[in-house]
Amino acid sequence: MLIAIDGPAGAGKSTVARAVADALGFTYLDSGAMYRCVALAELRGAADPAACAIGLGGRVTLDGEDVTEAIRTPEVTARASEVAARPEVREALVDKQRELIATGDYVAEGRDIGTVVAPGAELKVFLTASPQERARRRAAELGGDVEQVLADQAQRDERDATRAHSPLRAAGDAVEVDTTGLSVQQVADQIVQLAKAGAR
Ligand code: CDP
Repeated sequence: MLIAIDGPAGAGKSTVARAVADALGFTYLDSGAMYRCVALAELRGAADPAACAIGLGGRVTLDGEDVTEAIRTPEVTARASEVAARPEVREALVDKQRELIATGDYVAEGRDIGTVVAPGAELKVFLTASPQERARRRAAELGGDVEQVLADQAQRDERDATRAHSPLRAAGDAVEVDTTGLSVQQVADQIVQLAKAGAR
């Protein structure tokens, strides 16, 4: 079974997707970490960044090096949404994502899982929250000034939603969940219930 969780930055995708995967015994796939690895490889001057070897799991590795923290800097975050607009990068990473999710039960999280990577996913969830709430969560998680985070986030949302190739949008058959004011546990429980109801 595949559960696809898509949505904008700060909607709580990563934490929620991990909690759902734990609750169901599924593997968690953080597709954003892959775009971040390509961005980091490019910032470091790699000749063909989309061809780098990415390892996911507890830690994220790039050509064998642990980059779990290095891919979360604001510089890499901004570059990730730029590289993610390039068709050749998306094609390479979508292929890798499809290979992974074919190997078992997954909770895959990103921007285009339900629309492009796996339109046949058994359950598709589109997570949202108000821009202010998303920026508050991000600032609390990574530090930084809420107003600055809000401005950077608005720029990234705009780029993700308006790019020509695989823009961020909800799949027609996705269940939209507004997480404003809800705890991670409440959102995860809701998705686990949906998965169980669908599996019956
Ligand atoms: O955690 P956050 O939402 O801040 O970002 P992320 O999920 O790590 O993704 C970083 C960037 O990669 C996003 O701004 C998107 O531009 C891009 N991305 C994408 O285009 N498609 C995906 N499936 C996942 C991420």
